[in-house]
Amino acid sequence: MTEASLAPAAPRAVPRVLALANQKGGVGKTTTAINLGTALAAIGETVLIIDLDPQGNASTGLGIERSRRRVSTYDVLTGEIELRDAVLETAVPRLHIAPSTLDLSGIELELASQRDRAFRLRDAIRRLNGAADSDPERTDPEYTYVLIDCPPSLNLITVNAMAASNAILVPLQCEFFALEGLSQLLKTVEQVRTTLNPGLSIHGIVLTMFDARNNLSTQVVDDVRQFMGEKVYETIIPRNVRVSEAPSYGKPVLLYDLKCVGSQAYLRLASEIIQRERSLRVAAA
Ligand SMILES: Nc1ncnc2c1ncn2[C@@H]1O[C@H](COP(=O)(O)OP(=O)(O)O)[C@@H](O)[C@H]1O
Ligand SMILES: [Mg+2]
Repeated sequence: MTEASLAPAAPRAVPRVLALANQKGGVGKTTTAINLGTALAAIGETVLIIDLDPQGNASTGLGIERSRRRVSTYDVLTGEIELRDAVLETAVPRLHIAPSTLDLSGIELELASQRDRAFRLRDAIRRLNGAADSDPERTDPEYTYVLIDCPPSLNLITVNAMAASNAILVPLQCEFFALEGLSQLLKTVEQVRTTLNPGLSIHGIVLTMFDARNNLSTQVVDDVRQFMGEKVYETIIPRNVRVSEAPSYGKPVLLYDLKCVGSQAYLRLASEIIQRERSLRVAAA
């Protein structure tokens, strides 16, 4: 027996899995996945973003051209390939992405008759870390955070994300209909908790595209805080043109313009999330 085989196996890192979900489009799910992921990586976490929207905006926003998406989350969900083999590096150190393609829009029908159809992503994430266990030659990173960017729908793709997650992060846009649809989303989370994933919780609600010049924005913040209480993060993401420009350069806003108010807000959100994670861990211990 070699010395190495006598040594206790290094504990396998288990990533925290957070899904960005809201069945409304255009509320800031993708923007939050990209920039929260970047901010977490900037403070030392090793982050994988899983692009589960067939539109592939998270992939595009992180500079992954379509020609580079030879394998994607579609192939992961069909079981063709391992998640770690779909991963691409981004311009941000310690931030990786499993990209998506339009193929993903057909996945629901393809998986319809499979008994494990809701658990495809969960099982793939369980096999994500620990590549070196089976192949010592591999130097894959051990992820500490997985962020899942969901499509604007409560379909099988989103259910896969919820079944695979520790917690859900809900971006809500500061607009008149912000709360509309939230109870449907919370109901779906509750259903997934009782049927598929008893450990699932709501991590928090992040208010996005806040416009201080607009009284309505302030009213929405008050309403959402009244309705959801402490679940709402203190950090509010302002509407900021730099945030919306960055994806067309294939960059997170933190790389495009670190000093702008949008970047600073995402850095604050990341530290708030890490803090919430710490208190969850203390509560669980
Ligand atoms: N804080 C912000 N300031 C300005 N524009 C934003 C902000 N957050 C998101 N956007 C823009 O709003 C649009 C929708 O955001 P996105 O993250 O794609 O939403 P979703 O993924 O929920 O559909 C995008 O064009 C994005 O650039
Ligand atoms: Mg999106």
